[in-house]
Amino acid sequence: FPKGDDMIQDPPVPHGLPIEREDRYSPSPPLTVLRQRRPMSRLNYPDGHLGWLITNYELTRSVLSNPAFSSHPERMANPIGTGRVVLAESTTPQPGVFLRMDPPDHTRLRRRLTGVFTVRRMRQLEPRVTQIVRAQLDELERQGSGADLVEHFAIPVPSLVICELLGVPYEDRGSFQSDTAGFLRVEASAEERVQLIGNINAYLAELVDRKLVEPTDDLLSDLTRSGDLTRDELVGIAFLLLFAGHETTANMLGLGALALLEHPEQLRLLRSEPELIDNAVEEMLRFLSILHVGPLRTAGADIELGGNLIREGENILISLPAANRDPARFDNPEELDFHRKATGHLAFGHGIHQCLGQQLARTEMRIGWTELFGRLPNLRLAVDPDEIPLRTDMVIYGVHRLPVEW
Ligand code: HEM
Repeated sequence: FPKGDDMIQDPPVPHGLPIEREDRYSPSPPLTVLRQRRPMSRLNYPDGHLGWLITNYELTRSVLSNPAFSSHPERMANPIGTGRVVLAESTTPQPGVFLRMDPPDHTRLRRRLTGVFTVRRMRQLEPRVTQIVRAQLDELERQGSGADLVEHFAIPVPSLVICELLGVPYEDRGSFQSDTAGFLRVEASAEERVQLIGNINAYLAELVDRKLVEPTDDLLSDLTRSGDLTRDELVGIAFLLLFAGHETTANMLGLGALALLEHPEQLRLLRSEPELIDNAVEEMLRFLSILHVGPLRTAGADIELGGNLIREGENILISLPAANRDPARFDNPEELDFHRKATGHLAFGHGIHQCLGQQLARTEMRIGWTELFGRLPNLRLAVDPDEIPLRTDMVIYGVHRLPVEW
């Protein structure tokens, strides 16, 4: 095996993950260069840890399906220095937050969730998603042309969908939404964010207590019924669903709307062949790959991968934007093409942690974009695209604001 030191001599070894995106959508150019040179490279983490960076499709699947790579945050370094790695900030996972756990803890909790995240419940949610989207569009129309689509559409839609899923009562939704939206605001200081997380967890604990006494017809109540999860675990699960499901979907909705406006030929195609919407959703997931930093894993043992030796304890960062543009897997990967069969993309991850909410996310995007462009056929940007602030320093990529007119 090449030793770590030999590989450092072979440039480029980035210091921290390169985070700029080319043309707003494509991976950072250094990531594309690295992928062309070799499937995995050394990566200098800002804290001094020397780990690895994976940029190709095949090795991404190998790492994510290998149980020897751990998701536990204990030995994880922050790969972008200044950025926010929301759920990896502490060294032990919050109870219930199984995204950051390994088997058997992960298996026990995830199994409980797949039992309630049923196809039936997702189907039941569909008409509610449509209602939520339409109500949001009604509001936009009432206000008249000109709005920030992130604030008035992309953020509230998934937030209200999570409220449905968790069974947040209507009277609580206003404050719940303002706390969760506040958390997504980039201007929020670290103290403000800690405060908001505190508020959200306190609210979720209260909600769990209510569901324990008086279960209703929602996913959280179903989880409380079994009696085999602790109160802290129930709160952590609710927190995980909120954070895994809200920021991700909100940014897909916002950035996806921008991508459609900037690819008018694809928008026209979708209008003339609406049955392409399912393909379009998969292709947008691949093309945008909004998980901008991560997944991140730690080697639980010495492991051979792609002809290299990864030492126990070393961090492995995967670039999903780079892996999803791998020409060895997708023809003309730089093109947004709604005729493409993009299934097999890795935007939802792979292996045991593969996104639990993917069906719900797909439903939200399908209904969200269809209704948005159906209702506002003259939707257009209100500013030059270069003025749109991009979330390059965030774990979840997207746009901070999307000023539009119609
Ligand atoms: C896990 C992406 C929406 C719940 C993941 C992972 C990715 C991902 C890449 C794997 C992370 C890893 O391996 O470390 C996305 C994207 C979404 C989305 C791109 C929107 C388009 C949602 C929604 C929900 C959700 C709507 C729930 C309501 C979860 C949960 C996990 C997860 C609970 C952890 C699964 C586990 O550890 O077993 N998601 N997600 N996600 N996602 Fe999503």
